[in-house]
Amino acid sequence: MEDLIKQAGRMILDGKAAVHDKEGMANFVTDRDIEIQRFLISELSSRFPGCTFFGEEDTEGNEHRTSGHCFFIDPIDGTTNYIFGYHHSCVSVGESLDGNMVAGYVYNPFTDDFYEAKRGQGARLNGQQLNLADRGLEEGITAFGCARYNTQDTDAIFDISKQLYLRSLSLRNGGSAALDLCRAASGANVLYLELMLQPYDYAAASVIIKEAGGVISQINGSPITFSTGCSVLAGAPKAVAEAKEIIADYYRGKNGL
Ligand code: IPD
Ligand code: CA
Ligand code: CA
Repeated sequence: MEDLIKQAGRMILDGKAAVHDKEGMANFVTDRDIEIQRFLISELSSRFPGCTFFGEEDTEGNEHRTSGHCFFIDPIDGTTNYIFGYHHSCVSVGESLDGNMVAGYVYNPFTDDFYEAKRGQGARLNGQQLNLADRGLEEGITAFGCARYNTQDTDAIFDISKQLYLRSLSLRNGGSAALDLCRAASGANVLYLELMLQPYDYAAASVIIKEAGGVISQINGSPITFSTGCSVLAGAPKAVAEAKEIIADYYRGKNGL
């Protein structure tokens, strides 16, 4: 899998590609996203006959069926970063069997960082085992994500992030949820929060963060879902517990979570 994911990720380096609008404000897809997803679906279908796909883009073979052996594909996580030359994007592929996530692969071709995890076998970054130190918010960098097309979440994410910022050492918004989650797995971030993501954004990273010793859930503590999108709160167990209190306080003030 490593060679395949890296080959797909390196396609992000192939220069600019045509940009198209998707539904909602500032929601884009490029010809490169399509090309990478097509490549992965074609390669994975021939290696694993009968497998299903839950990919972000509208390409042939992408059925959003999570049954049996399924691959969750985000061909470019950080498409806006890619379009504007931020050099901070990745390919993300999560693997599930009968509804249970069993492996995750995330590759950033700009830094050549390859994160991988298999359930029960630990997580690695460039071959090095990841073992998360349990730290509180005040001991690290907090990261959050938001998207212009999720307009209903704008006030909440910025109000909550301000509280997280005031409790932690600093605040980041990297523009790639998968990479921010992987940074939570490596300890570069102590926490990651986003109020609405889709399964292909977090499928791979969810295995990586759990296998590194971190936790991941929705903001109210419910398990994340893989048939539909949800909020995501992940990181070191102590920081996540502190963040849950901050988030619950915020919504208590707004009458309900
Ligand atoms: C987006 C990125 C971003 C996050 C958005 C996602 P895309 O994915 O992960 O960091 O805040 O919610 O939609 O569109 O670049 O694949
Ligand atoms: Ca994404
Ligand atoms: Ca994407």
